[in-house]
Amino acid sequence: MATPESTFLASKIYTKEELCLLEEIPEPCAIVIFGASGDLTHRKLLPSLFYLTSQKLMPKFYVVGVGRTEMTHERFRQTVRESLPAGTEAGVMDDFLSRCHFVSGEYDSSQLYQSLSQALDDLDRKFGINCRRLFYLSTPPSLYGTVVKALGESKLVSPAEPTGWVRVVIEKPFGRSFESCRELNHGLHEYLSEEQIYRIDHYLGKETVQNILMFRFANILFEPVWNRNFVDHVQITAAEQIGVEHRAGYYEQSGVLRDMFQNHLMELTALIAMEPPSNLNANAVRSRRTDVFRAVRPLTRTDAEQSSVCGQYGPGTVNGVPVPGYRQEKGVNPKSDIPTFGALRLEIDNWRWQGVPFYLRSGKRLADRVVEIAVHFKRVPISIFKPLLADQLAPNVLKFKIQPDEGITMRFEAKHPGPRLCMSTVTMDFGYQETFKTPPPESYARLFHDAMIGNQTLFARNDGVEECWRIMDPIIEFWESGGHPPLPIYPVGTWGPHEADMLIARSGRFWD
Ligand code: BG6
Repeated sequence: MATPESTFLASKIYTKEELCLLEEIPEPCAIVIFGASGDLTHRKLLPSLFYLTSQKLMPKFYVVGVGRTEMTHERFRQTVRESLPAGTEAGVMDDFLSRCHFVSGEYDSSQLYQSLSQALDDLDRKFGINCRRLFYLSTPPSLYGTVVKALGESKLVSPAEPTGWVRVVIEKPFGRSFESCRELNHGLHEYLSEEQIYRIDHYLGKETVQNILMFRFANILFEPVWNRNFVDHVQITAAEQIGVEHRAGYYEQSGVLRDMFQNHLMELTALIAMEPPSNLNANAVRSRRTDVFRAVRPLTRTDAEQSSVCGQYGPGTVNGVPVPGYRQEKGVNPKSDIPTFGALRLEIDNWRWQGVPFYLRSGKRLADRVVEIAVHFKRVPISIFKPLLADQLAPNVLKFKIQPDEGITMRFEAKHPGPRLCMSTVTMDFGYQETFKTPPPESYARLFHDAMIGNQTLFARNDGVEECWRIMDPIIEFWESGGHPPLPIYPVGTWGPHEADMLIARSGRFWD
């Protein structure tokens, strides 16, 4: 008998094994990276392109780096070589490098775009590429609007060939408030359609983050209990051991609330809380994510005071080595009030989640590097294991371990062997690496590939990103205005300020 899906899907049905072997190789295209001498380009972007090449997932392509620094192609190739894995076979390295080129100029000067346009036409001819262009904006965020306007005015965003396409990937942060995000969206839409804009959030490219959808919607067990009747609360933690490093200039303008909460933590919240989309199309999935953001209860200034905690790291030691506090870091104002830690309680006002708090926290220079989501279920209603009472039986906790040690664990109560009534909490453990024998790939590689094949599912849509700012604005305003309590200073290597423990303890709960 035909299943509802098989009648619905007129196209070919694959077996799981066949589907797994399906690879979508993008159409030949040019990759143009603005901000090519920057840190992200060398740490993430070029190695990701190289990884895709080594996996034979790249089409015919060439790369143009664009930057303010004057540089010859040869010098650029040398810097590219330094960014790629040592020990790469010479032939493979040389082939990759021969595809890399550089164009320099000021981002607001028409001269740059004329040179770029000429270079792209020449390289298209040389590499046999038909006006398919992926522009990647990894410049300081204040330049996103300037670059897109200049690309638009130089006619670089409308493909000259009918089979061509132009897409623009934009790094975070996308705006610094609801208003500025809106303005940026308007500015971009003057030259680009929403289908051409790829707002990147690298957390969405993480393998374990993508697995949340599989886990929830490819299994029958969890969805029936994924709601207010069975879930007590959700904790999302993104903790880092590193400090601000060499990014003080950026971080002093952003702080943890803009850097981690408005984007990464909100997207994780959406994947946990969203309704099942009708299919995996980009807009179907993104609409369900945006529904979650829309349902987050708007916070007032008073709520911000009650429901959020911020802090800043003070000096301490890491593995016995003294490290400076935030205010002593190079490039940081010695009186800086920028938070490097945040904790937040959110409520989602919809049928599924009413009354289930979501606790989010993130910080730098914490005790461990760990990103995870813990879904804490309710207690059993009554204990039949008297004299043990129901509140002595530990509630089930399902944990998505995003990094490191990527995996999923489930805590439950189990009986000890033997005649006595004796039980403990045990953990069922699925590890990616042990199961699939391969480390999860770099998230930027996945996102580059998706942008090249034109799949926007893992990129933020204009309405979603605006909604996230709407949620964060009052909290940011509270912590940036004069009226907030003094910023607690937490010592390096701890789990943040004591106030964050109080935030969750007020409702009788604890950080996992
Ligand atoms: C970036 C932030 O988006 O994410 C950084 O700007 C942060 O401050 C980084 O360190 C964390 O990413 P990951 O992949 O290391 O968890």
